[in-house]
Amino acid sequence: MSDDAFGRLMASADPPLIVLTTAVGDERAGCLVGFHAQSSITPQRYCVWLSKANHTYRVGLRAARFSVHFLTVDDLTIAERFGTLSGEDTDKFAGMDVDLDPHGVPVLTACAHQVSLERIAVLDDGSDHVCLTARVTSARSGRSFLPLRVSNATHLVPGHSSDERAIQP
Ligand SMILES: Cc1cc2nc3c(=O)[nH]c(=O)nc-3n(C[C@H](O)[C@H](O)[C@H](O)COP(=O)(O)O)c2cc1C
Repeated sequence: MSDDAFGRLMASADPPLIVLTTAVGDERAGCLVGFHAQSSITPQRYCVWLSKANHTYRVGLRAARFSVHFLTVDDLTIAERFGTLSGEDTDKFAGMDVDLDPHGVPVLTACAHQVSLERIAVLDDGSDHVCLTARVTSARSGRSFLPLRVSNATHLVPGHSSDERAIQP
């Protein structure tokens, strides 16, 4: 299969977008993520893939708890903020309504569809992303919703491109 075929396949699959947040002490982090999926039914498990270039990856390596916010079609401005800025030089949470969960993880109050995760393991297979596998500790959602998808965000320029390698702090 050619790279073009793979790219077209993934574009047709058009995954929904989430914002993953986490914290270690007072250090908060979060980024827009298209690589994520439920990975077990019983027990409930979820996987998220983080780019090694991202600030969120570097904080996430030290973190145990995470929050997944499912974006709706009305959340493009949240996608822009978390997908185009970097926590290295910006406080992405400034000016947003944020609650802290019992573990200090920032939860975006604007996002009604949210899952809390506890990390189990991180898999680094040598590629540009690592897989974070986690147990689902809680979830909240109201009505079903129309997700914001990768096809709605193709104009966004990521704060870090995946071919950047992790910069040591
Ligand atoms: C449509 C789209 C999808 C993205 N998917 C991912 C992803 O699956 N995993 C990831 O780590 N970064 C992904 N990114 C990139 C980060 O969201 C982006 O580089 C962000 O600015 C990193 O912020 P940080 O340095 O504060 O972590 C995506 C960006 C866009 C625009």
